[in-house]
Order: sequence, then structure tokens, then C-alpha cells
Amino acid sequence: MSHAVSPAPEIRRTASAEAAPWWRQAVVYQVYPRSFADLDGNGLGDIAGITSRVDYLDELGIDAVWLSPFYPSALADGGYDVADYRDVDPKLGTLEDFDHMVAALHERGIRVVVDIVPNHTSDLHEWFQEALLAEPGSPARDRYIFREGTGPDGSLPPSDWVSAFGGSAWERVPDGQWYLHHFAVEQPDLNWANPEVRADFVRTLRFWSDRGVDGFRIDVAHMLTKDLADVLPTQAELDAMPRDGQHPTIDRDDVHEVYAEWRAVFDSYDPPRTAVAEAWVDRSRVPLYASSESLGQAFNFDLLEADFDASQFREIVTANLELAQSSGSSSTWVLSNHDVVRHATRYGLPDAERGADGRPARKHGQEWLLSGGTDPKLDRERGERRARAATLFVLGLPGSAYLYQGEELGLHEVAEIEDGQRQDPTFFRSPGADLGRDGCRVPLPWEASGPSFGFGAGEAHLPQPAWMGEYAVERQDDDPDSTLALYRRALAVRARVQADEGLEWIETGRPDVLRFARPNGWQVVTNFGDAPHALDAAGSSVVLSSDPGAAPGVVPPASTVWLAP
Ligand code: GLC
Repeated sequence: MSHAVSPAPEIRRTASAEAAPWWRQAVVYQVYPRSFADLDGNGLGDIAGITSRVDYLDELGIDAVWLSPFYPSALADGGYDVADYRDVDPKLGTLEDFDHMVAALHERGIRVVVDIVPNHTSDLHEWFQEALLAEPGSPARDRYIFREGTGPDGSLPPSDWVSAFGGSAWERVPDGQWYLHHFAVEQPDLNWANPEVRADFVRTLRFWSDRGVDGFRIDVAHMLTKDLADVLPTQAELDAMPRDGQHPTIDRDDVHEVYAEWRAVFDSYDPPRTAVAEAWVDRSRVPLYASSESLGQAFNFDLLEADFDASQFREIVTANLELAQSSGSSSTWVLSNHDVVRHATRYGLPDAERGADGRPARKHGQEWLLSGGTDPKLDRERGERRARAATLFVLGLPGSAYLYQGEELGLHEVAEIEDGQRQDPTFFRSPGADLGRDGCRVPLPWEASGPSFGFGAGEAHLPQPAWMGEYAVERQDDDPDSTLALYRRALAVRARVQADEGLEWIETGRPDVLRFARPNGWQVVTNFGDAPHALDAAGSSVVLSSDPGAAPGVVPPASTVWLAP
């Protein structure tokens, strides 16, 4: 192996980066608890499984973990249907297990962020069960959004609104009323105009903060508050309304009244608890969520929709750094999460087909998924190469990076899931059109063989194809050229570097090669093209390359190097 890489030098620290709050440039690793590690062998990952892997997380070098929901749930939407916000799902463990996990992570300096799902509860939540038994117009129904139906006998839904997973957004209950669910039928929307709902979430935030949780990821943060007139607009009318803060259901200005109250809760702790908004809103409105009076940080999902393309990446970086500056927050970078096709796979497929607005016309990778993975369009090796390059690019940027479990192994999306094994409501509610998100939620391979590749003692809750063994932690652990080794080295260097948050582009003379410098002189060069790029590295040394075979002085196609002054 010809590593064009010298040992990472000590790079001068920037005082302001050292003094900044921890989250501003944190590397946050998303754990999808059901699919991380299954200690009790029942096929579902559990909290004790996470605790059993803290050494792995420590060695990876992350600053925090974000846990997707682990609360009691019938798993109608992978746990985003929460039946009790202040407990652990018995299938995943106990509150005591949770406390052990937090202690074990904290001992290693890893912070803990938990997912809060405030737009909807599970239909099994005691409030919804109470609402079902209560009269129309009762206080119990007022915690949700119940309406009379339309048509002569009320047997038609209150409007033609479509849920995010397909099908009607309304469901009828036995006494004839209908309730709103923007997601699955099992996820009734809460009524955020109800003070009891508001008070209960404050209690939940305190409950977890008191248990030592450091921060919160806020699910569909842009949808909580609604302003529903007696006569509801049609879906077409709703879609045509401007998203200017007054839209009836999406991104309303008044949602920030909720977050101002939460902010007071966060700030009453020392250190203050943090939050990051999952808000799918127009770019111009992201700073409202990221402001220090609101949630403090917001996800930037632009890279999830981008191709492996220099001009797209540059535009996204420039725009999001400006947005972050305008809110006083730091930017976030995401290449994969539990809702999208893994980036190693996206980058190994032909570029997304785009609509007139420049956004992918349909979910990238969907066609290939529909073929069950037999479509020859996926070039695995190319996808992995590009994924490593993109990751190293992103980890060099100012702001915080959110990694999704398994990306550090270069894992691909799993297409080989039979219809009968699928779990995602998207699949059930859009028959044949959208296979949903199960393919990125398949349990991790820890070992190269065994019944569930070391995930647990028995079979995993989603099928793991044979090729997953090739990506096992066990296989990559001691291989200096592995993707896992690359992530470990990158995070170690990043932690040492601690650059201030600025970024300056350096022109490369090639439209497909991006280069930028951080205020401490640290530089990143990414070649998005197909031809090698001769590296002008006068005065600096290469500390890391995403291509272990890179020759000195060259940035090979689809690769990134880090340079230190
Ligand atoms: C968010 C979650 C997604 C979930 C949805 C409904 O988008 O990331 O997984 O299905 O909210 O809670």
C-alpha cells in the first residue's frame, strides 16, 4: 500500500473553537436502536446492546450519539409512533438500562441526544385511547385533531388531504368522527393549541434532561402548530399556498412560541441542553429554527438530494454557511440517515433525475430498490469510493457532521427484502410505488459470519443479505485501508485540529475539483471528476486521503485529501 499520508501533526488550535459550545462542531453518530446491537437475542436491537458497544463508539471518535426513538411503541413507524414519552420500550430494555448506557457513554466523553416526536403520538398512547372512549367535543378529544366528516352522512373525510406515507390523512373512528394523521394511521397528530399538550412535552424534556441527556433531535419540527379553518382547503389549495409562516399546516411562525418555551427549559440546565430541528422548510426559513431563541440548530438535508458533483456541493456549502451565519448557529452536514437510501448506494447509481425545480423527481435509488437489487445499474465500488470522498469532504467543513450507523463501514442499502418482510408504512401505503426505508435500517454486521453477523444471537428483524458479511466490523477492524479505519483516522485528526468555523474557497482551475481552507490553515481537496488532479501542496503535507492507494502529489478521481500547514 502506498499511503501518501504522513502522521497527523499537531495543528495549532484556534481559541474561539476551543471556547465554543460542544455541539457547534460536533460529530454526532445516529444510532437506530432496533438495528444496532441485539444483546438479548430477540432479533431487535436494544439499549444494553448499545452499552455493550461503547468501546466501539469511543474508538470511532464521535462526540455524541443521537438515538432514534427507543420509547414504548408498536413500531408502526419504526418507533416514531410513541406510546409513552417517558419510558423505554420493554422490547429494548428498561429505564435502568438507559441510565447505564448514558453513564457508560458519558464516561467516555460521548454525549447523548434523544429523539422527541411532538407532532403525533402513537394511537396506543393513553391520551389517544382516552380520546377514543370520550365524546366528540370532549377535552380528551381536544388533545388531538378530530373533525366531523363531509358528505350527507359524514362518511367522507373532512378534506382530501394526503398523508406523508400515502393515502388519506384522515381516519374515521367508530362514532363517526375523523382524526388527522399526517403520517401513518397509527400516528394521530396532536393539537398544539391545547395547553395540556404543551405542558406535557415540557415535562418530557425535563424528564430526559434530568436523566443526563445532553440534547434533543426534534422530529418534524415544522409541523406542530396548525390553523385549521371550519372549511378546510383542498390538498391542491394547500400545496399552492405560500409557505410564509401563515400556512395552515406547515412551518407556521407560531411554532416558535413552542420552542421559545422549550428554550427556557434547555437553558435552565448547566450546561444548557441542545436541540436540532428536523425541519423540511424553505431554505430562507431555516434560520428561524436554528436561532438561539428557538431550537438552536437545524438539519441541512441538501446533500441528501445532491449528486456527487462539485458545483452542487459548492453551492450547498456556500448557501448553508451563510444561513448558519445569519442565525448565529453552526451548519449541519448529513449524507445518510434512517430515511434515505445510503450514500454509498446513491453515489453508485446514475445521477438522480431532476424536476424543473432541480430536485430529484423521485426518491433517489427507488428504481433500483424496486428491482430487488438485481438492476445492474449499481456500481458498488464506485459508490463506496465516492462515499469515502464525500465523507472526508464533509468532515472537513465547519459545523457539525451527523453520521448514520453503518456508513463508517461503507455499507450499502439493502434491496433484497421480500414484501412480506417489509416494515415501513411507506411501503404499505403506496403499494408498489415506494419500497420505503427498510433498506437502510437493516441491522449492522459486527462479525463476518454467524446467524445475524454478530448483531445478536438469533435472526435479525430485517433480513441481512450474505454480502453484509464483507462489510463486518470484524473484517475492517485491523485493516488500515478499510472505510472504518478511514473514519477513525478522520475523526481523530478532526478532534485534534479544532479549527475555527470559517472557510475560504481556493480556486483549482478545474470545475470538478473543490478546495477550501479553514482558518488554521487546514485544507481539503476533493476531486469529483474522473481524471486525476495534480496537487499543489506547497507548504503543506497530506495528513489523510480517502484513497489509500493515492500516489504522492495526486488527488485521484473520486477522492479527498486533507492537508495540514
Ligand atoms: C421524521 C422521521 C421519520 C418518521 C417521520 C414521522 O421524518 O425521521 O423516520 O417516519 O418523522 O415521525
